[in-house]
Amino acid sequence: MSTSVFDSSAHNYDVEFTQTPIGSMQRNRVYKFLRPLLSLQTKLLEINCGTGQDAINMAPFVSSIMATDISQPMIEIAEKKRMHAKLNNVSFKCIDINVLHLGLNNKFDLLLSNFGGLNCLSEKELRAFSNNIEPFISEQGQLALVIMGKKCWIENLWYLLRKDARYKRRNTKKGLHTKINDSTFYTYYYSPEEIGLIFSSHFQIKKVRPIGLFIPPSYLNPFFTNKAWLLKTLYFFEKLFGRLAFLSNYSDHYLIILTKKQLPL
Ligand SMILES: C[S@@+](CC[C@H](N)C(=O)[O-])C[C@H]1O[C@@H](n2cnc3c(N)ncnc32)[C@H](O)[C@@H]1O
Repeated sequence: MSTSVFDSSAHNYDVEFTQTPIGSMQRNRVYKFLRPLLSLQTKLLEINCGTGQDAINMAPFVSSIMATDISQPMIEIAEKKRMHAKLNNVSFKCIDINVLHLGLNNKFDLLLSNFGGLNCLSEKELRAFSNNIEPFISEQGQLALVIMGKKCWIENLWYLLRKDARYKRRNTKKGLHTKINDSTFYTYYYSPEEIGLIFSSHFQIKKVRPIGLFIPPSYLNPFFTNKAWLLKTLYFFEKLFGRLAFLSNYSDHYLIILTKKQLPL
């Protein structure tokens, strides 16, 4: 069985992200834009599903979900949730995005990658992923990718005020050396334009929306513990300005929806 740097964070993931005010506010924003893409006919393929929260939440609105992640402990937690919710249109599988295509034989209507899983892939890996996944996306199929952008203004302001060397840390061409517990790996940040270009051989941008333009990054949860009023105010502004596509690269994440390019007749 392979191990992943994310294994050690699996057991705390829901407490430290999914169930936190910031985590649930950002997820709600993703759902606001994703919900119109779902129908009872939708066959959904989810990558980097983590503890499976999206698959569990979306199961009632789609035909089927195959949800995958590189981390076996993440998948085990997701599977427990599935059994508890008695869902029979969801399956979870432990597999690396980079080799996912080798185990596929059906087409999907929607591919979902939520909350930065694709930021673990280099540009070269993302290009390969685009080529490898294309045959498994139906003609009218779409990709819904939630990616961490390069210029999150709240993060930059936070580090600037603290005179912290991490100021503007995302705005780099190279991967950023990142630590989870005792494991290290690289995180690569991409603007919506860069993602559009990387996927452009087979897909085109349909829509981009900021996620976390005013809702801050989740590592700021402790700062907001006694400031629920402030977080509520930020959520209000998020709803007010959350459709402004040109601000997407300045938010913590953004949702980019890509459609398959039609072959010329
Ligand atoms: C920030 S979590 C997001 C989890 C989930 N999508 C959510 O919405 O909460 C990132 C996830 O990406 C997964 N991941 C990272 N690299 C991966 C890869 N190469 N293949 C598959 N999953 C990967 C990690 O195991 C982790 O569960």
